[in-house]
Amino acid sequence: MTFEEALKRRSDQIGTMLNQTLDGFKPSSVADGMRYAVSGGKRLRGFLVMEGAALHGVPDTQSCFAAAAIEALHAYSLVHDDLPCMDDDDLRRGQPTVHIRWDEATAVLVGDALQSLAFEFLTLGALPAEVKLELTNNLAFAAGGRGMVRGQALDIAAESAIAPQTLEEITELQSLKTGALIEWSAMAGACMAGKDGGPLFRYAEALGLAFQIADDILDVEGDEATAGKRLQKDADAGKATFVSLLGLDGAKQRAEELVAEAIDALSLYSAQADYLRDVAHFVITRDN
Ligand code: IPE
Ligand code: IPE
Ligand code: MG
Ligand code: MG
Ligand code: MG
Repeated sequence: MTFEEALKRRSDQIGTMLNQTLDGFKPSSVADGMRYAVSGGKRLRGFLVMEGAALHGVPDTQSCFAAAAIEALHAYSLVHDDLPCMDDDDLRRGQPTVHIRWDEATAVLVGDALQSLAFEFLTLGALPAEVKLELTNNLAFAAGGRGMVRGQALDIAAESAIAPQTLEEITELQSLKTGALIEWSAMAGACMAGKDGGPLFRYAEALGLAFQIADDILDVEGDEATAGKRLQKDADAGKATFVSLLGLDGAKQRAEELVAEAIDALSLYSAQADYLRDVAHFVITRDN
């Protein structure tokens, strides 16, 4: 199976899990909005969960809960990220954002409910209770005020900062905003198997930064129709990004170095980790 086929297969598995669960919700605009918000997307984080799990011998029937969890949580972060008080975006995954399609109150509630759903997913399945506890604790940390939310807050603050941010500050901001969830995803499989997640953490640290550099490059030179979201927003918002600090060529070179670092971190794994190696290349060549 090619990497693209493998990604599609995982995406379908995760989509089925999410849709089956949401189909059990009583009809409401919040339930409709949740279904809408989890549809589409590359499902990269869920892919990392399921591939990391497969690498450690954890069956898909168990890893799919954590994969659905991280995709629900990521979808929540995007619904809130697009709100008028945050990035004020009207397009996501090629569709109107949730607050445009419904309204702001619905979008806030859709995000809230998706976050709760993520933690509900982590309690399901037949993994040992202590594994579920560790996954839950780690996700609470990665997503919350010491992780993704802190990164989002720093990102918003950067828009009104008088002095431009340094490369060190941007790296910290991005590793929280995007890196934390990617790290959790890559390490979840090792956690499920009770194995050392160290190598996958190093992989994910480099991957997360490469991913965000690619997002910043896409913002400058991507195509809106292909990306399915508004671009050229970072410079307009006066935001320092990897591109504004390193220049386009410098940012591309840094992303390449990080991909090499990510692949290097997988050296103790056999060909079974090839899809994870492919992900590293994919994150910097993607056009959406
Ligand atoms: C976009 O994430 C938001 C960032 C964290 C930069 P993705 O590029 O993974 O978005 P989807 O899920 O594929 O739409
Ligand atoms: C979003 O970052 C990160 C999170 C939602 C946590 P961006 O604001 O750069 O993502 P896009 O460009 O809107 O997808
Ligand atoms: Mg944002
Ligand atoms: Mg945004
Ligand atoms: Mg962006």
